[in-house]
Amino acid sequence: MSAMDRLNIKGLICLEAGTGAGHMTCYLARRGAKLVYSISNNQEHLDCARKELPKKHIKNVRFIKADLRRLDFLEDETIDLITAHMLVNVVTPVDVFLIFKELTRVAKNNALIVVNDYNPLSSYQTERSHIVEELFRIENAVYYLTNGKPALVWYPSEYIADLLKLLGWRIETIELMYDKTPWEKELLEEHLEVIENECKKLRNENLRREMLSQATEILNQVDEDETIYAGTIYSIIARRTRYKETM
Ligand SMILES: C[S@@+](CC[C@H](N)C(=O)[O-])C[C@H]1O[C@@H](n2cnc3c(N)ncnc32)[C@H](O)[C@@H]1O
Repeated sequence: MSAMDRLNIKGLICLEAGTGAGHMTCYLARRGAKLVYSISNNQEHLDCARKELPKKHIKNVRFIKADLRRLDFLEDETIDLITAHMLVNVVTPVDVFLIFKELTRVAKNNALIVVNDYNPLSSYQTERSHIVEELFRIENAVYYLTNGKPALVWYPSEYIADLLKLLGWRIETIELMYDKTPWEKELLEEHLEVIENECKKLRNENLRREMLSQATEILNQVDEDETIYAGTIYSIIARRTRYKETM
């Protein structure tokens, strides 16, 4: 049982920061949340998550397209529980700060925040982990060329915990949800797809061909039913305190 499973969610007003596939939104509704604001800047994600949510929970969830850096439609101190499940790995350092600052504004005094995400891949290594690292290195390089930012950033749990403390949260628990993160071939293939799509946007044909062939070669090293382990996944639970604590 994770620390999150031990929380009493019944009757709480929740905010899921970054809807994605809607797993956390569904979990919060299933655990009895009074209302879940499920927020993403991606309409497709919101539509899919809405479709997947069991009908009996639909009245408890509001899917909202918005930028988490500015949640103007929410008053100060209105949310009991904020979750950011696998959000920060798709957000740049400046935006991580701006998003958590805004989430702090809408959190009630004594509200809880749960941040679940990846530690850097170096936090758990086997002799096969470098394959995963190399694939993500290419994904980030291509994404940087086409979008001016990396696709994925791995923040250590200590970085996120320190940021939360700086913003006036008291850390209650930091634990590992996964002491080794499994990367199945199917999941790695999804990342190859991202690389393929981003490569299509590159004007330099040689560069496009080179990056794509490197990524394909890397994935060919993975056996069909192989799972490669690299990195860990942490869960931080923190409580909003009215006064800033010294770090
Ligand atoms: C990896 S998904 C999160 C997975 C999801 N929490 C779950 O439990 O299934 C990340 C989500 O955050 C959204 N996102 C990233 N940056 C954002 C921002 N600045 N404002 C709003 N949504 C953002 C993405 O569009 C995506 O929906």
